[in-house]
Amino acid sequence: MMRITLRQLSTFEAVARLKNFSAAANEMYVSQPTVSKQIKALQEEVGVPLLEQIGKKVSLTEAGKELYATCTQWMETWGRFEQTIANLKGMKQGKLRISAVTTTKFFMPRLLGPFCSEYPNIDISLEVVNRDRLLERLANNEDDLYIMGVPPEEIDVEAEPFLDNPLVVLAPAGHPLANEKQIPFERLASEKFLMRERGSGTRITLERLFAERHVPLNIRMELGSNEAIKQAVAGGLGLALLSQSTLWTETSQKELTTLDVEGFPVMRAWYVLRPKGKPLSVVAEHFLEFLREHIRLLFP
Ligand code: PGA
Repeated sequence: MMRITLRQLSTFEAVARLKNFSAAANEMYVSQPTVSKQIKALQEEVGVPLLEQIGKKVSLTEAGKELYATCTQWMETWGRFEQTIANLKGMKQGKLRISAVTTTKFFMPRLLGPFCSEYPNIDISLEVVNRDRLLERLANNEDDLYIMGVPPEEIDVEAEPFLDNPLVVLAPAGHPLANEKQIPFERLASEKFLMRERGSGTRITLERLFAERHVPLNIRMELGSNEAIKQAVAGGLGLALLSQSTLWTETSQKELTTLDVEGFPVMRAWYVLRPKGKPLSVVAEHFLEFLREHIRLLFP
């Protein structure tokens, strides 16, 4: 086993690359005699000449070329190792700021649980706000990542879909349409609807759907949360269009039903967004990976 130091190898790499002892000494912040001494010790250890010097010009022997190729590979591997360590250090502590639209609270906290147990020292904040408020935060660059169902057209973002987000028509269990199949969309014109507050993405989708099909939308009441809407539907106040995500943790499952309206469920997606070109922190990058891997496990 040769007794070679990392220092000698980096010196050799610099000399071999620059073909010059004093340039290598400059680059390594040492004197030229130090470089010569290290190269001499290295050659002795290897047992064959590595360099030939004519005047100031340095060239590589056959063995020198072999060692140089080995050094280059080693430095690349070492660079990757240093990067991994830096990332691990970065993952030890750090902050992750996410803002997510209200409807995602039916799955986002569940995803954060396993992430937090894997990276217990990461400080996570999850802002749960409606779409309008989320867009404000995005415009002010307040968070690392943003989770929403209706990406904005007016802000330049990178949006990646990561989960289906079907929209369903929710009715009380005993509703007269509950057992009908392929109900024509126009039939919804004679129903009263419960609607999310202004600024909600769900509300935008509902309004767009009715407008696109030129069907009049009858609003019974405006309510500020999905839970309130579900309770109101169960209480017989009207129908609602909600993301199916809101039904995953349904406690009053028996009181609610989804209607088989033609064209439904309307297939949409949940997106993770960031401002275009914004480099992610190591922590945010890890979370994104985690999101891609775990979301399907949690919600197959
Ligand atoms: P909301 O957003 O929670 O603001 O309704 C849902 C969505 O973006 O689809």
